[in-house]
Amino acid sequence: MVATANTSATICGKPLGLASAEASTLVGLEAHRIHVEVCCTRGPSFFQMVGLAEAAVREARVRVASALARLGVLIDEYAITVNLAPADLRKSGAALDLALALATLGAVGELPEGVLAGTVVLGELALDGTLRPIRGVLPQLEGARARGICSAIIPAGNGAEGGLVEGMDVRVAATLGEVCEHLTGKGRLRAAERTPFVPDESSALGDLSEVRGQTTARRALEIAAAGNHNLLMIGPPGGGKTLLARLLPSILPPLHFDEAIETTAIHSVAGLVEPEKGVVSVRPFRAPHHSVSEAGLVGGGDMPRPGEVSLAHNGVLFLDELAEFRRGALEALRQPLEDWRVCIARARARAWFPARPLVIGAVNPCPCGYHGHPRRNCRCSPRLRHSYEARLSGPLLDRLDVHVSVPPVEVSALTSGTPGEPSSAVRARVIAARAVQRARRERGETTTVTNSTLSAAELEHVARLDRDGGRLIEAAIAGLGLSARAFVKVLRVARTIADLENSPRVRAPHVAEAIQGRLIDRGRAA
Ligand SMILES: Nc1ncnc2c1ncn2[C@@H]1O[C@H](COP(=O)(O)OP(=O)(O)OP(=O)(O)O)[C@@H](O)[C@H]1O
Ligand SMILES: [Mg+2]
Repeated sequence: MVATANTSATICGKPLGLASAEASTLVGLEAHRIHVEVCCTRGPSFFQMVGLAEAAVREARVRVASALARLGVLIDEYAITVNLAPADLRKSGAALDLALALATLGAVGELPEGVLAGTVVLGELALDGTLRPIRGVLPQLEGARARGICSAIIPAGNGAEGGLVEGMDVRVAATLGEVCEHLTGKGRLRAAERTPFVPDESSALGDLSEVRGQTTARRALEIAAAGNHNLLMIGPPGGGKTLLARLLPSILPPLHFDEAIETTAIHSVAGLVEPEKGVVSVRPFRAPHHSVSEAGLVGGGDMPRPGEVSLAHNGVLFLDELAEFRRGALEALRQPLEDWRVCIARARARAWFPARPLVIGAVNPCPCGYHGHPRRNCRCSPRLRHSYEARLSGPLLDRLDVHVSVPPVEVSALTSGTPGEPSSAVRARVIAARAVQRARRERGETTTVTNSTLSAAELEHVARLDRDGGRLIEAAIAGLGLSARAFVKVLRVARTIADLENSPRVRAPHVAEAIQGRLIDRGRAA
């Protein structure tokens, strides 16, 4: 927003121009208001910027000077002081360029007084005055709107993203000159186009019908998709774990508009939104390499950027070869998988990013991969196997709700020529089960969109067990040593299995199948 307030005063007999423009900066996904104040006097060339500006902001002087020169304003003829308020908030990036240029124009008397009041201005300047797109336009405009700002000027390259913001007059400009013409009434900036949101359904790579056999793993994939439960697949090489995981998006429901906005905001901060589309219209599928760092996986950096777990928000985070990931990176995943958001603490600020992906992990049962294989011998020593299992076990695995064994695929299944059930049929059941969950939320019975995040208190209401189901789970707790966390997870998964059958009650067979999903990990009850 810009509230230009040219004031005529004098300092040492020289006319003093004061003007301000308002922009914003992001801390995580949170937009903070930045007030850019410029004070100019005619006199020996001088430029000073105060207000905790990072290098890219300080360099704005060079870009702004060149862009203004194109308009015939030479800032070297002035002594200029810039203040970026609030002073205790670090400002980074080049998105403040446009506000700085406009405030300078206001201060030297080139813009009418108050012309930008109530408008947020964002954009990076090229030396020739072209406006370059910036990161994080969507969360910045939403933040401004929440502060009561009702108009904005943004770079044309961010137009599609800006068009997503409702209740705000968003104008797009290609150059600083265009902005000036608009503000002085010589021209009119185009409004950012509002394109109707259409979820992209064409981008799933492949179809589940490609998968032969693997009935249990396919069923686990369907349950995971229906309730957004995290899934671990364990099996020897070549059984189809990677294949199955990559097909998961083909059975997930299309992205809702609200989810698309949330996901777009995160991708926008990371600079990953396609400029022409402006919106993420397909559920993200992120498959980071196992060499990914802790910051790469959960987010980090001096000016915090989202990590893979947040970029996969509302989509899938696939951790292939889970045992090969750095221990520190996997440990860092524990908090987001519990809280569904990541907190990145820095000296002056704390940044939050949402992180609610469906996590799917794939792993071999031992280093050579053939432990428990029906036809091949495992070459690993018990000690090696033990240290491998120790690397895998623990709280992270406990957070993966369903564990499924992916055995070697039978030759007969591969050669039978009978294709598996297509993704479209499975997806229809997943969509129906998710509709049941949404209806429960709309009736006020739950607060969560999917069963994977139901609280223990909510489960008491929505997953009340019948007598046989109750006995079964009691036996599992007593005989198999299910932990309290595992008990809650079994109930959540059982609720999803019941939803797939549209069964209001959670019955014994649902519980039995859910318990199975916690046990196949080398017979270990999580
Ligand atoms: N059940 C299956 N149906 C059809 N093709 C399969 C199946 N399983 C594996 N394949 C074929 O084998 C290839 C290798 O499978 P995939 O990479 O998914 O195995 P994996 O379990 O991930 O092995 P690894 O443990 O070595 O990573 C697949 O690309 C696919 O062509
Ligand atoms: Mg694999």
